[in-house]
Amino acid sequence: MKVLLIGSGGREHALAWKIAQSPLLDALYAAPGNPGIADHATLVELNVEDHAAVIAFAKEKAIDFVVIGPEAPLVAGLADDLRAAGIATFGPSKAAAQLEGSKGFTKDLCARYDIPTGAYQRFKSAEPAKDYVRAQGAPIVIKADGLAAGKGVTVAMTEAEALAAIDDCFDGAFGAAGAEVVVEAFLDGEEASFFCLSDGKTALALATAQDHKRVGDGDTGPNTGGMGAYSPAPVMTATMVERTMKEIIEPTISGMAKDGNPFSGVFFAGLMITAKGPELIEYNVRFGDPECQVLMMRLKSDLLPILYATATGTLDRVDAEWRDEVALTVVLASKGYPGAYDKNTPIAHIPEASEEAKVFHAGTALKDDRLVATGGRVLNVTALGKTVTEAQAHAYALADRVEWENGFCRRDIGWQAVAREKV
Ligand code: AMP
Ligand code: GLY
Repeated sequence: MKVLLIGSGGREHALAWKIAQSPLLDALYAAPGNPGIADHATLVELNVEDHAAVIAFAKEKAIDFVVIGPEAPLVAGLADDLRAAGIATFGPSKAAAQLEGSKGFTKDLCARYDIPTGAYQRFKSAEPAKDYVRAQGAPIVIKADGLAAGKGVTVAMTEAEALAAIDDCFDGAFGAAGAEVVVEAFLDGEEASFFCLSDGKTALALATAQDHKRVGDGDTGPNTGGMGAYSPAPVMTATMVERTMKEIIEPTISGMAKDGNPFSGVFFAGLMITAKGPELIEYNVRFGDPECQVLMMRLKSDLLPILYATATGTLDRVDAEWRDEVALTVVLASKGYPGAYDKNTPIAHIPEASEEAKVFHAGTALKDDRLVATGGRVLNVTALGKTVTEAQAHAYALADRVEWENGFCRRDIGWQAVAREKV
């Protein structure tokens, strides 16, 4: 099979690494890719926003299957256009991608199909939103409706903070994404991400993971795209998994189909495990980044036929097998992230991979043959271990061997699970 992978982050490096191991693979291309992905794929300079150019390339190279990694091309309808051109594609339609593209869309779906989530209201202007906040009181959560690179959410511990966040959204801090605002009840508990595949009819549960969204140790500072993750998430006991499938995932898949937007691809539920059980915080219509990196380290099965079955409506014929070990990834980011940071800072050394540990590239590039950091999140140092404690030790031992002066990382990825393992 000839495969084209769309994307350039750590998630896509992990996907490329895994797809490249498939005996079914004849050729792998990646657009635009990154220097890590170049170890497994031929990089192609394509403007992914130009759907006609992607289709023309796919036809020219006789690509059998396109795998779309990030959310932006999905929300822009790249999967629809590829499928309309007769090319098998992994990734949801533009209509189904609204599950991530519009928080209000998902909240309304939850309301229609009785899916547990925080009480909410949608607003198109500031004053009524502020009145609602004053009536509800803090803590309360303010969300820009659209895609804001994981930064459009304010968990406001005071009313003043909530009112300021509403002004920020409507003043254009998140561009068009903030033209509508969702105000949502604060949910208290432990978070977990629950990954699933669906071909529109069947859902196949993959694995669970825990992300670390805040930039600082001890979960302090602003939200980021994710500073580290591990899999599996210990809060997701067998009972919680079963309840999540029944109360959240299954009604979502059947509800989306009933509404005329069948979901095909991978999605993950951001869950809060509250005293009442699992409640939905949000959906994402793609693999999480960096959660994908830990999932791929743990996946024993060949990824390619699983993705292809998802895309072609035969998901009921495949299964996914997982290693029992824990995988943990630490994100090395440019100093200053998620605020402003220097670009093109040199990365002098990345340690060799082993069976148990690997450094995935996210925001890197080659400039005059030298590896440099170009993004906020730059490398994902990923390792396996028998416990979270052991995986954490392996990952940090490897991270400490990366030579990159402008990089930093959180030193406590996995802290909640490590504390539990000590007891
Ligand atoms: P989201 O982009 O919707 O996943 O939100 C980013 C982060 O904000 C989540 O991972 C949570 O940590 C936090 N968050 C979002 N919604 C809520 C909520 N209703 N209650 C508490 N925390 C929330
Ligand atoms: N790490 C969170 C996300 O990919 O949305």
